Amino acid sequence: MSVKTIEWKNDQVVMLDQRLLPHKEIIRVCRNYKEVAAAIRQMIIRGAPAIGVAAAMGVALGALQSKTKDFDREFEQIVLTLAKTRPTAVNLFWALERMRKVYSENRDRGVDAVKRLLKIEAQKIYKEDIAANKEMGKYGAELLADAKHVMTHCNAGALATAGYGTALGVLRALKESGKKFDVFVNETRPFLQGARLTAWELKKEKIATTLITDSMAGYLMQIGRVDAIVVGCDRVAANGDVANKIGTYTIAVLARRHGIPFYVAGPTSSIDLNCPTGEDIPIEQRNPKEVSHMFGKALAPKGISIFNPAFDVTSQELISAIITEKGIIRPPYQQNIASHVSH
Ligand code: MRU
Repeated sequence: MSVKTIEWKNDQVVMLDQRLLPHKEIIRVCRNYKEVAAAIRQMIIRGAPAIGVAAAMGVALGALQSKTKDFDREFEQIVLTLAKTRPTAVNLFWALERMRKVYSENRDRGVDAVKRLLKIEAQKIYKEDIAANKEMGKYGAELLADAKHVMTHCNAGALATAGYGTALGVLRALKESGKKFDVFVNETRPFLQGARLTAWELKKEKIATTLITDSMAGYLMQIGRVDAIVVGCDRVAANGDVANKIGTYTIAVLARRHGIPFYVAGPTSSIDLNCPTGEDIPIEQRNPKEVSHMFGKALAPKGISIFNPAFDVTSQELISAIITEKGIIRPPYQQNIASHVSH
């Protein structure tokens, strides 16, 4: 695979520092679980499935290094520290839950056995994520088979996952199926995941890509230059509402206005049946400096009030279909999501 986002190597967690892309490809080594938690918080690694994989590896690393007599207390501390890193992507909590299950189901086999099994589980989560993305790619490529001009928002690529990507996985699969198409990438202010990461990945992949600012998306739809939109997701509520990068809602509304299909791609680990609707999804608020500054330079007057939500919620009626590793979910989402997950 051309992009290695995260890896378990010599009992350490190794990540590509996404803050420095596309200009520098620097590898960071996390030597303990606190460093993994800091890497998630600081956006060295980001994107819902990648955050989940990192958290699982963080738990495995923390457990493996535990030397205390009270392993159970330390395990709780490790899980809690990782759970506090970012609130919106449910994959983080899903991965922690999987690790906790391995711990509780095997605790009576002794600390060494638990440590070994946690390490195996983290790598299983990693591998399953790549496999899920490839499956999703196949389903998504069928859905987008006739699209010549596709738009995407944020980065839902190899960088946002263990590899291959969700929305960008669909585009990779579309290319592998021999289709000719081009992609409009929204820059995705304020963190610029589109300009810095998606443009970088698609260029590497040799997929025809045009970068636009977020405010140009509506105009392109109006002049008939967009056939389909595909984005990733951070959390899908039980009724089909989707939290994704800030600005997603805006393009979904525009897509409906112009009769353009709006697709969401994400693994079933992004579906949260415990969240009845989008209103129940916690939205992360980030540092105001991401809005007022760019690359350390102030853009706005000092002292101006700033609002910086990292995600928004797209209501289910604006979504044409949700693509997962198990297939395509169509409306009515309330009933179809529940049966899709349980099959
Ligand atoms: O703040 P980020 O960069 O973690 O936000 C990422 C997104 O919103 C992605 O679209 C989402 O996580 C899907 S990634 C496959």
